[in-house]
Amino acid sequence: MREEEFFAEVRRLGQLGSRAEAGPAPAGRWDLANKRYNIGGLTRSLSGHSTGMGLTDLLTDRIERATALDRPAGAARDLVQRAVPSRWWRDLLHGLWLGHPLHPTLAQLALGSLVSASLIDATGGSRRESSRLITVGLLAASPTAAAGWVDYSDGHEEQQRVGLVHAATNIAALSCYAGALLCRRSGQKGGRLLSVAGGVLGGLGAALGGHLSFRQASGANHAAEVPHVGPADWRRVGVLAELPVGTPVRRMIGDVPAFVLRHDPNDPIDGAPAVTVLSDRCPHLSGPLHEGQLSLLNGQLCITCPWHASVFKVGDGTVVHGPATAAVPRFETQVDNGVLHARVVTLPGVEAS
Ligand code: FES
Repeated sequence: MREEEFFAEVRRLGQLGSRAEAGPAPAGRWDLANKRYNIGGLTRSLSGHSTGMGLTDLLTDRIERATALDRPAGAARDLVQRAVPSRWWRDLLHGLWLGHPLHPTLAQLALGSLVSASLIDATGGSRRESSRLITVGLLAASPTAAAGWVDYSDGHEEQQRVGLVHAATNIAALSCYAGALLCRRSGQKGGRLLSVAGGVLGGLGAALGGHLSFRQASGANHAAEVPHVGPADWRRVGVLAELPVGTPVRRMIGDVPAFVLRHDPNDPIDGAPAVTVLSDRCPHLSGPLHEGQLSLLNGQLCITCPWHASVFKVGDGTVVHGPATAAVPRFETQVDNGVLHARVVTLPGVEAS
C-alpha cells in the first residue's frame, strides 16, 4: 500500500476510535487513537505537523544508524579502493573533469531508460520498445555503478550504510530487468512482470540515492555557502608577523573558518601576496584543510585534504585531484600597518553577508 493510501486509511480508522491518553506509540505499530506510528522508537505523527518527518525518513534514519552494516560496507569500500587505485581513473569517475559528480549524471540515462521500459510494460505497451530501453539502461548501468562505487569509497560511514542498501536495491532492480530480457529472448512468460518489479525496485534505489544526495549531502559542494556567508567587508585576521611562515593555520573571518597561509618567499605562486586565505572547509565533506599537507605538484603549491586526499592549488583554490569536484572559495587580502585583513571573494551580482 502506498504511503498516501496508508495515511488516508489510518485517518479514517482514527476517526472511529476514541482519543486515548498521549503516550509512546507501540513499537512497530500504529497508535490509532493518538494518530502516531512508531518504528524502533522513532515516532511519526499523523497530524502531519508535529514531527516534520516522513515515513521514508524513518526508514532511511534506521539505515543511517545501522552499525550492523559497517562490516560489509567497509569490506565494499576496501574492495573498491583496491580495484580502482589509479588517481586518473578515480578523478574521471568522480567527475572532476565535469565539475560535479558523474554518477547522478549517468544515472539519468540508466534510470530514465529502465523506468520508461517499466511504464511501457505496466501500461501494456510495445514489448520491442520496452526491450530496447532495457538494453540501453543495462548498458548505461555499468559506468553509472562504477562512478557510484568510487564516490561511495570516499564517503562517511553513515553515507556508506545508505550507499550499500542503495547499491543492493539497484542490483536487485538490474537483475529483474536482465531477467525480463532473458525471458523474452527465450520465449518464456514473466518478462513484463519482471520489468515492472525492476521499476519498483529502481524507484526505491533512486529514493535512497536522493537521500544520499540531499539529506546526507554526498556529492554536494560543502563550501558553496561561503561566498554568501563570508563577510564582504574587510575583517581583521591578525598581525601578519605573528603568523607562522609556511604552515597553514585556521582563523575565523566573520562566521567562516579560514585557511590562512603566510608564504615562504620561495613559494612558487606567481605574483603571490604575502599570505593566502581560503575557506578552511574542504568542498568534498568539510575536512579541515589547514590540517592538510602542503606539497609541490607540477611546480604549483598545493594542499592535500587530510580526510580523503583531495588536492587543491593554494594559489586559487582550484581542484587538482578529487574526490572533491568544486574549488575552495577564496578571500581577498590586504595588509595595513602590518595587520592582515580579508574579505570573501563574492560571485558576480551576488551579495555576501
Ligand atoms: S573532506 Fe573528503 S577530501 Fe576533503
